[in-house]
Amino acid sequence: MESLIVKGGRTLFGELDVAASKNALLPILACSVVVDGEVTLKHCTMYSDVMCMVEILGDLGCKTICTDDEIYIDASCADEFLVPEEYTKRIRSSIFMLGPLLSRFKKATVAYPGGCNIGNRPIDLHLKGLRTLNVKIEEKHGYIICDGKNMKAGEVHLDFASVGATENIMMASLLLKGITTIYNAAREPEIEDLQNFINAAGGKVSGAGTSTIIIEGVKCLHSVTYEAIRDRIIAGTYMLACAIAGGEITLDKSIPEHNFALISKLKQAGCKISTKGRLIKISSKGKLKCLPRIETQPFPGFPTDLQNQILVLQTVSKGTSVINETLFETRFKICTELTKMGADISINNQTAVVKGVNKLYGANVITTDLRGGAGLVLAGLVAEGHTTVEDVYHIDRGYNHIENDLRILNADIERVIQEDYSTEHI
Ligand code: EPZ
Repeated sequence: MESLIVKGGRTLFGELDVAASKNALLPILACSVVVDGEVTLKHCTMYSDVMCMVEILGDLGCKTICTDDEIYIDASCADEFLVPEEYTKRIRSSIFMLGPLLSRFKKATVAYPGGCNIGNRPIDLHLKGLRTLNVKIEEKHGYIICDGKNMKAGEVHLDFASVGATENIMMASLLLKGITTIYNAAREPEIEDLQNFINAAGGKVSGAGTSTIIIEGVKCLHSVTYEAIRDRIIAGTYMLACAIAGGEITLDKSIPEHNFALISKLKQAGCKISTKGRLIKISSKGKLKCLPRIETQPFPGFPTDLQNQILVLQTVSKGTSVINETLFETRFKICTELTKMGADISINNQTAVVKGVNKLYGANVITTDLRGGAGLVLAGLVAEGHTTVEDVYHIDRGYNHIENDLRILNADIERVIQEDYSTEHI
């Protein structure tokens, strides 16, 4: 297993380009199976989740080629509509294959994705939406078996503005004769990016970014070359790294409006932040004011994917902060590890009360999920001494070698293979 060793105490400075958005690339890759031709995605970042989605496409018969930063898919030879458990247990977003496979083959069989370390993550809204489009669905032996031979356009009302359900229903409707409307759709920027990809391939989707999305069915999607948006959660993670460690950094290729909720919070805490075009510049003297109340919400509210990282900032801020996680049931696992580092946190169901302490101390901490792992790395930046963050594979799902990015920003961090560490560092 690989670990990251972080030596705390350095302030950050430097400039970094923000990488491509994992949560934009995943539905776009899934949607490629609908394209009757070739898809070329430029300036991609090969997160392990993205590589897994490419494997799924290959398994469905698509031709796939990955270079350093480009992904090429030719789905014209796709001939399979089954996504087995070996994939759905690795990445939950494999559930996004239901919609595109129904559009392509009028049938789909996907193993149940099950929960993960941040919550049970049901898919009832996905299935309810597809049934509204007259998809016959059976759930048998851990598989979701969809028959779409009588699918038809319709009006879908989502009980909750689910990102994945919105994307799945969009992709299932692309080739249906007539107009499909999704009410109470999620408004995340990644959904707007999926719309832009679909329209660039000849689709007719409008309203993404608002809570009503309209899909006018077309005959087919044609070959397309596309570049996904950059990752707002990675941008937010590095802004919080600077807030926590102190210093001044500039992020380029960002989309500031995707981070307005975080920017507002960090200004309230005492950071200086300026934005110009694709640039975000942030400076912090460290030891910031605490944020008395933080509540995660669907976009454009404060993002749940930055909740663990801003919680780390509260552990070393002046005062007490109350953090409410409204989207996922168990997204406070990082707190057990932060307590080992000297943090003062009490949890009651979906609420964490964080009392700022003078300092954190380096420790051996274990990553249990993607964004919690990123939070532990941020804690290591400010802790006294060395912090070893274990099971880094969780972090690699959504950050492409986080240690390289942070080293560019002056952090003292290295990746070691667990067993080598025991010999080299005695
Ligand atoms: C997407 O997950 C993101 N993943 C998540 O990012 C992100 O945290 C989440 O949206 C919220 O913004 C990708 O885009 C690949 P949801 P998704 O459906 O689609 C409940 C990361 O770290 N729900 O909007 O699974 C669900 O339990 C990941 O990059 C149902 O009840 O999120 C949760 O409470 C983590 N029934 C809430 O909705 C359903 O059928 C939000 O889930 C679907 C969801």
